[in-house]
Amino acid sequence: MNQPTKPLLDVLKGTPQKIPPVWLMRQAGRHLPEYLELRDKATNFLNFCYSPKLAVEATLQPVRRYDMDAAILFCDILVIPDALGQSVAFIAGEGPRLEALNEGDALPVFDEDQLHKRLEPVYETVARVSEVLDDGVTLIGFAGAPWTIATYMVEGGSSRDYAKTRAWAYKNPAGFQTLIDILVKATAAYLSRQIASGVETVQLFDSWAGILPPDEFQRWVIQPAAAIVSYLRARHSHVPIIGFPRGAGAQYPAFAEQSGVDCVSLDSNLPLEWVAKALPKGMAVQGNLDNLLLVAGGKAMDRTAQTRVEAFADRPHIFNLGHGILPATPVDHVERLLSVVRGG
Ligand code: CP3
Repeated sequence: MNQPTKPLLDVLKGTPQKIPPVWLMRQAGRHLPEYLELRDKATNFLNFCYSPKLAVEATLQPVRRYDMDAAILFCDILVIPDALGQSVAFIAGEGPRLEALNEGDALPVFDEDQLHKRLEPVYETVARVSEVLDDGVTLIGFAGAPWTIATYMVEGGSSRDYAKTRAWAYKNPAGFQTLIDILVKATAAYLSRQIASGVETVQLFDSWAGILPPDEFQRWVIQPAAAIVSYLRARHSHVPIIGFPRGAGAQYPAFAEQSGVDCVSLDSNLPLEWVAKALPKGMAVQGNLDNLLLVAGGKAMDRTAQTRVEAFADRPHIFNLGHGILPATPVDHVERLLSVVRGG
């Protein structure tokens, strides 16, 4: 009667589970042979993301194979620059390449109708997945956080130090704020529509949050996250939100307290004893096995996974990695990890 139907959603709403629910960041993707086969059917990666038939299948693959507690929408964080009109391409073996935005250039215009028009196939993927997902499985939506998206837009791709973006933010904070504000609006509207289409929680990925010093972290990571959270709360008060300020270190507690998220996703660098003391009591956490340990496997992986299950037993905890699953990850290591976490 009181049987929780969705353990992962229950954790996000504050109720710890005996066995932590588990999913893995980037669980759909290149470590799965069935994904690689599917990927060949699309002309390019963005078209893959915008093909509901393929994206539904990619979303469901890891759930089917591993019996995960959650499905994460198959898409990419860079659909937002694309939907704002910036050119985005994924080059095989290299990663994303964007037409770089320079200080002084005209900024993209936020036109909500146009944004949704471009992203309509993503909403359709969500609706179709939510129709076929098993009862106990939670559907997670996501977006990149404004700071991380801005780094891709300004650098034109991945970067080692994000020097151009940081220099712009230092030299002309008011101008950079305008870009961040556009991204806050686009991200909030996008996530809200994902929720309206059927996702039950959303995760905000701030993959490059960790390169910012405290004042900048406050302005470019915490404040935009808080603005997105408050927009979503006003429209979907029942939907929990996960924040992932990767690499934030000593700034995790400020993010946890001030952004308004329900759960923080922890990267692998954070010491467990520190987390226990530094994060608000009772706050849900997700994480934080090293993704390379999953590639390596063996006793060290088993032990480290078990340590996390025990260390977080007294708070709502979702078992996950500290960063996305790597393409070199063997499928049988993932199977083994799930059996360790579930006590098999
Ligand atoms: O988690 C999932 O399984 C859902 C899908 C998902 C993808 N990207 C698919 C993808 C999610 C949640 C993302 C998030 C994402 N994308 C992030 C934030 C998380 C993180 O890892 O820090 C970032 C920074 C990106 C940007 C991105 N997308 C890069 C840098 C790359 C190239 C490098 C890489 O990891 O492949 C991508 C491509 C991408 N996104 C692939 C997939 C499955 C690989 C594309 C391919 O099949 O060739």
